[in-house]
Amino acid sequence: MKTLILTSKEINKAAELIKKGQLVAFPTETVYGLGGNALNKKAVKKIFIAKGRPSDNPLIVHIARKKDIFNYAVFDNKNQLHIVKKLIKIFWPGPLTLILKKKSFIPDETTGNLNTIAIRMPKNKIALNLIKLSNLPIAAPSANLSGKPSGTTFKHVYNDFNGKISAIIKSKQTKYGLESTVIDLTTWPVKILRPGSITYEQLKKIIPSIVVLKNKKTIKAKSPGMKYRHYSPNAKIILFENSKNQEKRIKEFFKKLKKENKKILIIKHKKEVLSKNLYKIFRECDEKKIDYLLIKATDEKGIGLALMNRLRKAASIIIK
Ligand code: TXA
Ligand code: MG
Repeated sequence: MKTLILTSKEINKAAELIKKGQLVAFPTETVYGLGGNALNKKAVKKIFIAKGRPSDNPLIVHIARKKDIFNYAVFDNKNQLHIVKKLIKIFWPGPLTLILKKKSFIPDETTGNLNTIAIRMPKNKIALNLIKLSNLPIAAPSANLSGKPSGTTFKHVYNDFNGKISAIIKSKQTKYGLESTVIDLTTWPVKILRPGSITYEQLKKIIPSIVVLKNKKTIKAKSPGMKYRHYSPNAKIILFENSKNQEKRIKEFFKKLKKENKKILIIKHKKEVLSKNLYKIFRECDEKKIDYLLIKATDEKGIGLALMNRLRKAASIIIK
């Protein structure tokens, strides 16, 4: 298949492809998405095939108008409706995904056979225009082959999907670099299933009882995506958690691995910089055939919670 490389000025072409049931990768403010018509089973199946993604891992449905959430989600009670209205007023468009009960016409393929739906209104202009022009809700997982880090630059998406999808909209490196915050509003208290750029602290101001799901078993049961291996480069990641001896231990490991002639990269970025560039660094490690990536942990405040969540998942060894 020939993959068209489109600019943001050629969005009409991209929207036509979505309408025809084809796949188009596009930028969002978090990571690039691999989009298809969320209401078209065949298009959704193509997404799973292109990514090599297990079919029980549901997709996020992207919309371009806040009120569209009422077309696809069912509300159980007034309290839930009240909270959702508040959340979308404050955080949409933006990197917050809401899990709600779905309307029955949404294909099971889109939601991995669950009776719930994940919905988000992205902030990126290209993403919003694509959804508006296609006049459809767009199902889009992160644009990466299953098991690879999410694509945050055009090059990542091109490397993974050239020849496999109809088009890629070429744009800059994405703003945040980590995927959206996913929260489950179908049970009480509301739960953060996946931390992201909309932080726990921000959400807690609106929903004081909100909790972060930490127990691995419950996370696996609640969010099918979490049970699959994710976010890992080929290099072995050694994560040095915050401790008095952090710097000293990094040096010791570096010396030891150097003696073994290993190719090593040490990362000590601030959390804001590392969040934006983490997946890019992972992919560069693969290109440069790095053996070991030594990473200094950050605190878990603000974006730190999402960053540490991804780092712990990717780490082979965690030094405490
Ligand atoms: O920032 C993002 O969210 C990006 C951009 C493209 O919007 N998308 C993204 O999609 O990260 P994906 O498919 O890579 O991750 C979606 C996550 C998965 O962990 C999936 O299991 C979970 O959301 N999810 C989707 N629908 C769900 C549902 N109904 N119940 C529980 N978890 C759900
Ligand atoms: Mg993903």
